Amino acid sequence: MEIIRTVSDLESALGSARAKGSIGLVPTMGALHEGHLSLITRARKENDTVVVSVFVNPTQFNNPTDLATYPRTEEADCALLESAGVDYAFIPSVEEMYPQEDTRVFDLGPVAEVMEGPMRPGHFNGVAQVVSKLFSMTRPTRAYFGEKDYQQIAVIRRMVELEGGYDGLEIVSCPIRRHDDGLAMSSRNVRLTPDQRMVAPCISITLKSSLVKAREMSLTETRQWVIDTVNRFPFMEVEYYEIVDGITMQPLTDWSDSTIPVGCITAYCGDVRLIDNITYKI
Ligand code: PAF
Repeated sequence: MEIIRTVSDLESALGSARAKGSIGLVPTMGALHEGHLSLITRARKENDTVVVSVFVNPTQFNNPTDLATYPRTEEADCALLESAGVDYAFIPSVEEMYPQEDTRVFDLGPVAEVMEGPMRPGHFNGVAQVVSKLFSMTRPTRAYFGEKDYQQIAVIRRMVELEGGYDGLEIVSCPIRRHDDGLAMSSRNVRLTPDQRMVAPCISITLKSSLVKAREMSLTETRQWVIDTVNRFPFMEVEYYEIVDGITMQPLTDWSDSTIPVGCITAYCGDVRLIDNITYKI
């Protein structure tokens, strides 16, 4: 595996890789875990060359403390990438990614106006900025994203549609990886105290139980049941739980409003912000 730190080295390495076949890109912010590994394994199976970017993107953090405390584990990340058979680890500095301030404002539309949109102003614009840069730099055949960040995938698809020019790029969404107790894998989980870590699986357990509740409850009742149930656990505070259409991300009021109702939750466990989601089959 080659570690690349500059855009020009990346472009020259990928010039010859592109001539040989497909390029799979897995954008990450590092602190890699098994969830990332599942994206990388899939990229490895489906592409001739695999690039993983490791970059904690400052423009997508609307909270300076969150940016400062975001785990940074470059050495361990590189060891994992090497063992996963990655060809190139792209690990640029902030100056390399943003030689000038990125002032682009993307018209991300309704998919970005709900849930994480209002809760984290500027977050999705920052994601669009960095992902569009990564796509232009690597010109991948396929790019891999985890469904834990369900809304993010819809936003990235919208950005690709807006920008155009990424000829034939396929956005591949990959299922959430979970610990044995159900907690969705996340780089943020390492910040949970042992007591909080024991409680945090209540999110996925509640979401799963809500699949059964949904058979007899209305959508509004199910939504409220999830919020109340999670909030009853110590350390837990739900920021939002919305049941949305899986494509448009627009909140639903009735089960019959969508063929893919997806429940998206954000909850604090202590001061750690956790997200998860579940698809209802009504
Ligand atoms: O999901 C993430 O880790 C980040 O939002 C991404 C897509 C790597 C962009 O910084």
